[in-house]
Formats: sequence, C-alpha cells, structure tokens
Amino acid sequence: MIKSNKILTAEIIDRIEESASFSVLGKAKELERSGEKIFHLEIGEPDFTPPEESINSLIESLKRGETHYTAAQGIPELRREIVKYEKRFRHIDITPEQVVITPGAKPMILFTLLSAVNPGEKVLYPDPGYLSYKSLINFVGAVPVPYKLKKDKNFEIDLDDLRARVDNKTTCIIINSPSNPTGMVHSKEELKEILAIAKENNMLIISDEVYSRIYFDGQKHLSITNLTEDRSNIILIDAFSKTYAMTGFRLGYGILPVELVGAVVKLIQNSFSCVPEFIQHAGVTALSQGEMFISSMVKAFEERRDKVYAILSQIDGLKVFKPAAAFYFFPELQINIESREYAEYVLNNYKIALLPGEAFGTYGRGHIRISFANSLENLLEAATRIGDSIDKLKKEKGIKT
Ligand SMILES: Cc1ncc(COP(=O)(O)O)c(C=O)c1O
Repeated sequence: MIKSNKILTAEIIDRIEESASFSVLGKAKELERSGEKIFHLEIGEPDFTPPEESINSLIESLKRGETHYTAAQGIPELRREIVKYEKRFRHIDITPEQVVITPGAKPMILFTLLSAVNPGEKVLYPDPGYLSYKSLINFVGAVPVPYKLKKDKNFEIDLDDLRARVDNKTTCIIINSPSNPTGMVHSKEELKEILAIAKENNMLIISDEVYSRIYFDGQKHLSITNLTEDRSNIILIDAFSKTYAMTGFRLGYGILPVELVGAVVKLIQNSFSCVPEFIQHAGVTALSQGEMFISSMVKAFEERRDKVYAILSQIDGLKVFKPAAAFYFFPELQINIESREYAEYVLNNYKIALLPGEAFGTYGRGHIRISFANSLENLLEAATRIGDSIDKLKKEKGIKT
C-alpha cells in the first residue's frame, strides 16, 4: 500500500527470494563488461541451438498468421501430441483433457500450488533442491518443509527424515528426479515409498521431471507416474526447456488430475492468457521429430561429464559425485571455506561463475554447483582453474577435519 509518496513493495514480495543463478550471472556480466573472459558454469540451460525443425515450424506458423490468442489450456494439436509422447516415453495413458500448456515448467509449479494447496498447509520439498520450490511454496502462503537428500548415499531421499516431517497439515510433496542441483536420480524403491507415504497421508505429489531426457550410461528415466495405476494425486510437470534446449521459447506442460485442470486454466486465463500459438507449434514438431536432437545433445553432455569428472575427481580438497543425469556436478568442498565465499573467490580470482550449494538449501552448504552446459574447451580450462584455486585455498585455509 502507498502510505506516503514513497512506493513500498507489498509484503508478499518478501516471501520470494531472488534466484541465485540470476544474481551470480549479473555479477559475471558486470566483470565481462569490464573486458574479462568469464567461464559460465552457473547456468541451467543447454548451450545448444534448438532443433531446426522446431524453429522452422515456428516461422511457418507465424507466416500462417497464427498470432492471436488461443485456448488458455493449450492448442489441441500440442495436447494430443503430448498424449502420444507420454505413451511412447513414460508408457502412461493420459487424455488431452488432462494436459495444460504453460510458458515453461515454472508457472506450472506455481499454478498447481495455488490451485491445490491452502495457506497454512505444509509442502515438502527436497534439500538440496531447485531454489524456486521454497519461494513458490512461501508465496502461496503455505509452509515449506525441506526433506533431506543424503550426500553420503548418492543424494537418496532420507526416508526416515521425510516420514518424521509429515504431520496432519502436510498436504503436498514436491519431488524432482533427475535432480537439480545434484544430478542424481531416485530409485524405484524410493519412488514407491513416496507413493506409499503420499497415500497414507492423503498428499498430493508434484513430480518435476524437467530433466527426464538427459540421462547417461544408457540409463532410462523412471517416472513416479509409471509406478502406479492410480495417478489421481499426481501432477507431472515437464518442459521443452532442457529436453530440446528451448529455454527461451518458454514452453512446458503439466499432466493433472482432471479435477485440477479447471483451476489451473482459470489462473492462466487471468494471467498470461495462453502460450503463443507459434511457440506451441514448435513444441508439436519437437515432440514428433526431436529424438535425434536429444540423442546428440545427451551424447555431448555425457562426453563433457566424463572428461570434466576425470579432472575434478583428481582434485585433492574436492569430493565429486558422478552425476547420473541432468548437467550438473554438485561436489563438496573439503577445505575450510563457506561455499558462498568460495563462489565469490573463484569468480573474482579465476573468472569462474558457479553457484554456492547453500543457494539450494541447508543441506547444500559446503557444496558448489558446476553446470556443464558450456563448451568442452571452456569446461576443461575451467576445471583446471578450479583445481588451481582449491590448491591455493588449501594452503591458506587448510583441509576440513
Ligand atoms: C528442477 C527444475 N524445475 C523447473 C525449472 C524451470 O524450467 P522452465 O525454464 O521450463 O520454467 C528448472 C530450471 O532450471 C529446474 O532446474
């Protein structure tokens, strides 16, 4: 409210935090403007050009004059294509009525929370985990409750910790496999336990699967939706952002229990109205013609993972976990330095932009997130510099005991 001639931000804004990746990116850009070459390892977007076929169908759609509002839920062609894709990829049967199209995955997370969670209810989310979860849970007036991923066990969910945190106010759990920031995936057993806990406690599951196509070592994605016939309490979220390097297109979708579709569509109608039709056509083409694109991108990511891992794992003072999916390393610093201080130090002294682990939650403290969405050449140079920085700091600060 404006009480004087000074404009005050509303209290609700204090419930959300600035995204750490954007603030590090800001500092890195400032250094770049002063002429420095910065190695960008903070970014969470594939450095590939989207499939050419998708770009062409976007242009063709524009030329056909598809420049108007469309149905808020998304165009039928795209929703039908998603039904086919889900049958092929996740082996689940869904209907176009359950599919809702949004500008990327993020609005779908917000809108499902707004639609399904009441103020004061508790929502479980992974820690370390994607940084928007906590902000968005807070934003809708719910209570964010972190559950621990165990670093000494490949970032598996600590199921005892999770069970202990559930009470009669807990109505929803967010899961994210493959995970940002850990690059790890949940096992069938873990996912089955989540299903059981959700059933026993009458909870909704929001499964954020935006990294579902970026797996290494020939592993295939396992979705929680595939482990049960009863998906009435599951919201599946996926997007074109990571899978087809289409971050800037802003295109994602949710597969919702039918009861929730109307609520989410109302939110869309009253906010962004619809995703532009030409963007949705690019999505139809990506789904129907993008498999080759995905395999070559994943192959490139795997080569980078292996070559960078070979360097990072030799650094004394850094404990590295080999990611099974996505495009992040989440190593633990074994020197006496907070990860935030280290992130500032490598940016200023070694021109490497990366993210401090605590930006991903309390259990991320002491870790750093290194994205391998950059060229192999840059990554190899950056990994060597990280080694040099740790060597130097080890002497100055000493190894953690
Ligand atoms: C786990 C996770 N979910 C959602 C998103 C947001 O995706 P989009 O760009 O499609 O909104 C990201 C982006 O980094 C992510 O890492």
